[in-house]
Amino acid sequence: MKLLVTGGAGFIGSNFVHYTVKNRPEHSITVVDKLTYAGNKSNLEPVADKIEFVQGDICDAELMDKLVSETDIVVHFAAESHNDNSLREPWPFVETNIVGTYTILEAVRKHQKRLHHISTDEVFGDLEIDDPNRFTEETPYNPSSPYSSTKAGSDHLVSAWIRSFGIQATISNCSNNYGPYQHIEKFIPRQITNILSDIKPKLYGEGLNVRDWIHVDDHNEAVHLILDKGVSGETYIIGADNDHTNNKMVIEMICELMGKPKDWYEHVTDRPGHDMRYAMDSSKLRRELGWQPRYTDNNGMREGLKQTIAWYEANRDWWQTEKDAVEAAYAKQGQ
Ligand code: NAD
Ligand code: DAU
Repeated sequence: MKLLVTGGAGFIGSNFVHYTVKNRPEHSITVVDKLTYAGNKSNLEPVADKIEFVQGDICDAELMDKLVSETDIVVHFAAESHNDNSLREPWPFVETNIVGTYTILEAVRKHQKRLHHISTDEVFGDLEIDDPNRFTEETPYNPSSPYSSTKAGSDHLVSAWIRSFGIQATISNCSNNYGPYQHIEKFIPRQITNILSDIKPKLYGEGLNVRDWIHVDDHNEAVHLILDKGVSGETYIIGADNDHTNNKMVIEMICELMGKPKDWYEHVTDRPGHDMRYAMDSSKLRRELGWQPRYTDNNGMREGLKQTIAWYEANRDWWQTEKDAVEAAYAKQGQ
């Protein structure tokens, strides 16, 4: 199959491309990426001779029409993805996440191609700290931030294009990913690179917020199963069912794995509107498509974190030049 991967120079997209080249060589890949601050062409260097790369904007209707006409399936990762940035400047989120997804949908409709839309658990809002429930494919949407509301908007567009125009499409809503090539603005790589820079990790508020951390390879394996066996019109929840690890515990684990005392971190100003708890029920994906994550529970997460820490240690050139600017932007907000 010919895959058009949008946002393939970003964190999850580039890991998807690496994973596909290694494990699914039957697919050919074209990446389209605008190379915003979050995209890095060097992420694709190890597979550069095996893929086609186009620098471009998913809001460019002419470009998307051409690229979609030449593919079989669009795997749509491109987005503005960071909550804290969406609180500073929401417009790029509206533009890329909503207008960009609309532009892709129109090209998919015209050329009758298939779409897989990558989305997030954040569209469901959050749960109370002691709520035992988990998000399912039936949970109503209730997003909190400019980021999550624009992702919710993009999901609704996809669902409407399926129902109104009969396009072939699937949606997946995944929890928090970690792994190599993640931008250092995000929680886990920020703390790893803080420690490598002799800066104390920064915990928002009390740090009791819970995320269902999933290794990026487990996410991408799920995406491949959906491409192989997913039913058009269906949504699939993807999460490691790891619903008991709060941010404080993650920082303590990172400190311990990096040879620092467990309490070598500081509390900083909390995120406005900070979602408390996400928890995922991925039983549909497991039952219907046979998905099984490899990095489960705290042992799996320790293993995944060890690999991730080793990657940031070995790839200082990849992040070092941006570190001061990222920290300066956070410092302005007391974070
Ligand atoms: P990222 O910010 O690391 O990468 C986004 C990529 O999209 C970058 O390469 C960027 O250059 C590109 N891009 C941005 N605007 C573009 C535009 N207008 N045209 C073309 N390319 C553009 O994001 P990520 O963390 O890899 O997330 C990828 C997708 O997965 C997003 O849709 C996000 O909502 C979703 N998601 C992320 C997570 C997570 O934990 N990171 C979890 C669930 C879902
Ligand atoms: O749930 C899926 C979502 O996960 C994705 O849709 C988003 O694209 C992705 O960015 C991520 O969103 P979060 O806001 O949950 O991730 P982030 O890495 O920004 O923060 C994770 C948690 O850590 C969150 O509770 C805020 C907290 N945090 C974050 C940073 C950057 C800190 O305590 N300290 C920090 O320095």
